[in-house]
Amino acid sequence: MGRYIKVAPSILAADFAALGEAVRAAEAAGADLIHVDVMDGHFVPNLTIGPPVVAALRRVTSLPLDVHLMIEAPERLIEAFVRAGADYLTVHSEASVHLHRTLQHIRASGVRAGVALNPATPETALQYVLPLLDLVLVMSVNPGFGGQAFLPEVLPKLRAIRSWLDAAGRDEVLLAVDGGIDRHTASQVVAAGANVLVAGTAIFAAPEGVKAAVAALRAAGQNG
Ligand code: DX5
Ligand code: ZN
Repeated sequence: MGRYIKVAPSILAADFAALGEAVRAAEAAGADLIHVDVMDGHFVPNLTIGPPVVAALRRVTSLPLDVHLMIEAPERLIEAFVRAGADYLTVHSEASVHLHRTLQHIRASGVRAGVALNPATPETALQYVLPLLDLVLVMSVNPGFGGQAFLPEVLPKLRAIRSWLDAAGRDEVLLAVDGGIDRHTASQVVAAGANVLVAGTAIFAAPEGVKAAVAALRAAGQNG
C-alpha cells in the first residue's frame, strides 16, 4: 500500500513500423520506463532488435530505456547497448556464466544493472549478486513472445525476493514482473511485492487505447 507502481510498456507488442509513435504515445500516457525486448534467436526462439533501434528510440523519448537482453553471453554486447543509450541493462541469470562479472561490467559502464529469472529459475540465483543489482525482472511467462498467459506459480518467488529486499533495506531496487500482465494479474503481482509492471499486449493492443490502458494498469497495481 502506498508504494508507487511504475508502468513499463513493452514495445514488443507495438507496431514495429511505427515504433517512434508508440514510444511517444507511451510517454504521453504517463509511462515510467520503456521496456525494450532484445532477442537473439538462440537464448529464446525469436529475433527482435539490437543497438541501432535502441539508439533510434533514445532520440524520441526522455524516459529511461529498460533493455531486457534475452541473448546468450550478453557480456559481448554491453558496450554497444550503453552507447545506444540504454539506462537499464537486464541480463538473464541463465544466459551469463559469469553473472557476477557481467553485472560489475554493466555498472562500470555507467548504467543500471538488472537480472531476469525465467519461470523455472529459483530466486536463490540472485543470492550472491544482490549488492550489484538495481533491478530484478521476474518472468511470469517463458520469454520469447508477447501475448502469453501469466504463470501464477511465480507469485511465491516475487514474495521471497520482496522479503529479501525489505530485509536488506534495498528500497531503491526495482522489482519488475514481465509477461501476461493486465489489470487482473497486476493486482496479484503488486500484492506479492512487485513495483514495476511490464506489459505489452495489455497496453499496445488495448481497444481503449494506450493512455487508458496505462492508467488502468497503474490503478489496478495501486489497489493491489
Ligand atoms: C517476453 C517479453 C515481454 C513481452 C510481454 O519474452 O520479455 O516483455 O513483451 O508481453 P505481454 O505483456 O504481451 O505478455
Ligand atoms: Zn521483456
